[in-house]
Amino acid sequence: MTIQVCSTAEAAGRRAAAIVAGQLRRTPRLVLGLPTGRTSEAIYDELARLHARGRADFSKAHTINLDEFIGLQAGDPRSFRAFMQARLFERVNLRRGHTHFLNGRARDLERECRRFDRLIAGLGGIDLLLLGLGENGHIGFNEPAGALCAVTHRARLATVTRRANADRFGGRIAAVPREALTMGMAAILGARAIVLVATGRSKARAVHAMVAGKITTAQPASFLQLHPNVRVIVDDKSWGQVLDRSLGRPSQPRLRSKT
Ligand code: GLP
Repeated sequence: MTIQVCSTAEAAGRRAAAIVAGQLRRTPRLVLGLPTGRTSEAIYDELARLHARGRADFSKAHTINLDEFIGLQAGDPRSFRAFMQARLFERVNLRRGHTHFLNGRARDLERECRRFDRLIAGLGGIDLLLLGLGENGHIGFNEPAGALCAVTHRARLATVTRRANADRFGGRIAAVPREALTMGMAAILGARAIVLVATGRSKARAVHAMVAGKITTAQPASFLQLHPNVRVIVDDKSWGQVLDRSLGRPSQPRLRSKT
């Protein structure tokens, strides 16, 4: 695991976008795993800019989104699909049939999960997976629990997660769906390379647990310590808090130069 500390959240987003753009140049048929959430907005803004400048060509790439709420209507502006459409897909040259989602309205959700796992396998797995980080250490919607799930599955959302997503639902936690479909830990840890971005003070505790805590299902992101190719990109706010709280400077991960 390597850690890169950027001065701002925007700089962290630019750094992650530059990694994606570089990988697209090397591997035009890239299979790219994507998160949603506020953190990802800076990444997608920069990818749109890079695309406009001819520095990011998505024409042969595939994307696979990590998760989706259960029960929202098709085209619901609060869905992750709508978020991706507005934040990235309408701004770059991805082919429509190359953007892959879980369908949270499927009649048979179990079947939908199996379809998604087959889809990932059929694309040859994920080459590069971008991840955000939940305040409680979740990745995708793999929430802290006594046991984690390897395959794509139906997840019950933690209250802190529903609170973090309330903005999309008019600020009302009660309006946030209680369940979602999410990629499981196997597909996440099976990605050939992972770039996780976490910014802001609220993520400090989860960042520390991820990079220097014990590997535990209570902090799903801690399992990334087992992966051979993970880059963690943080900003001063999330990293500074880690140090300020005297939680100690993590010893295992390699700290990269500040950008
Ligand atoms: C959401 C998503 C995750 C995302 C995380 C962080 O609930 N399911 O994929 O990475 O929480 O979101 P944010 O960037 O808004 O803090």
